[in-house]
Amino acid sequence: MTRTAPSLGKDLVGLERLEPDQISTILDTAEPFKEISERRIKKVPVLRGKTIVNLFFEPSTRTRVSFEFAEKRLSADTVNISSSGSSVVKGETLVDTARNLEAMKIDMVVMRHGSSGAASFLADRIPSSVVNAGDGGHEHPTQALLDMLTIRDTLGRISGIKVCLVGDILHSRVARSNIFGLLKLGAEVAVCGPRTLLPRGVEELGVSVFGRIEDAIEWADVLNVLRLQFERMKAGYVPSLREYNRVWGVSSARLDAAPKDLVILHPGPMNRGVEIDSDVADGPHSVILNQVTNGVAIRMAVLYLLAGGVPEAAEAAKGGGES
Ligand code: CP
Repeated sequence: MTRTAPSLGKDLVGLERLEPDQISTILDTAEPFKEISERRIKKVPVLRGKTIVNLFFEPSTRTRVSFEFAEKRLSADTVNISSSGSSVVKGETLVDTARNLEAMKIDMVVMRHGSSGAASFLADRIPSSVVNAGDGGHEHPTQALLDMLTIRDTLGRISGIKVCLVGDILHSRVARSNIFGLLKLGAEVAVCGPRTLLPRGVEELGVSVFGRIEDAIEWADVLNVLRLQFERMKAGYVPSLREYNRVWGVSSARLDAAPKDLVILHPGPMNRGVEIDSDVADGPHSVILNQVTNGVAIRMAVLYLLAGGVPEAAEAAKGGGES
């Protein structure tokens, strides 16, 4: 008997709420979509007739642009709205903004917002699908999905792989989504960083904690290096950037001392010379730009599945374009 892949439901708010099968379905659905971006004419009619609003209340390069590429490559009609260019600056609420957009007959909202829970709040109040493109310190599910796809591409699997998230875990929605997603797919997960930048009780999420970067490097197969999120810090969490780099920075000298080669991820934007040195970011074991490439395929898969696409039909659905 053939097994039907599980549906995602109406929204993608976070990986905490997803079952392992649903996460695997997104990763598997992204595979056939990778090839569309390699074509001369990067367009298939999979989401023709769908209208998607990209609502970004915080700065973004990778997420905003790759959602927009994903939407355009699937032939959706798209509109981009930023807080500075919208009536939010005149005091309009998030729900009023969304309801006005809905009155113009949209199908999906992709939203980045500075408040944790904003995506869930909106998803509960509008009938359109809501995709969380990062909400405060809560979750950034498509980032973790593209990180997982990149690990699977590089090492052939996720289950049993040792992944350490390094740096500012306290303020990181990327860390939270990675922890939920990786554990559900059977990876071993650890975090490493100054105590001031680790959430209280982080061990209760099911991760190990390393107090020295050298120990994390000795243990891990993969490092996912996170930046210091100064925009979310209300106090001095580290003495100085130079000191942070000296104690916690991922450098080639530290990696050369490891018993094996590590795969290096970074979700961006990078602070070169702070959490990661340039020769590591640009070095042979860095898959940082592969992450960016995979971001388009992951976002295509998420949009396709939320629009009611059948995972098993993704290969056939993308056949409609011109190569
Ligand atoms: N990784 C990430 O979310 O990058 P942006 O802030 O540029 O979207």
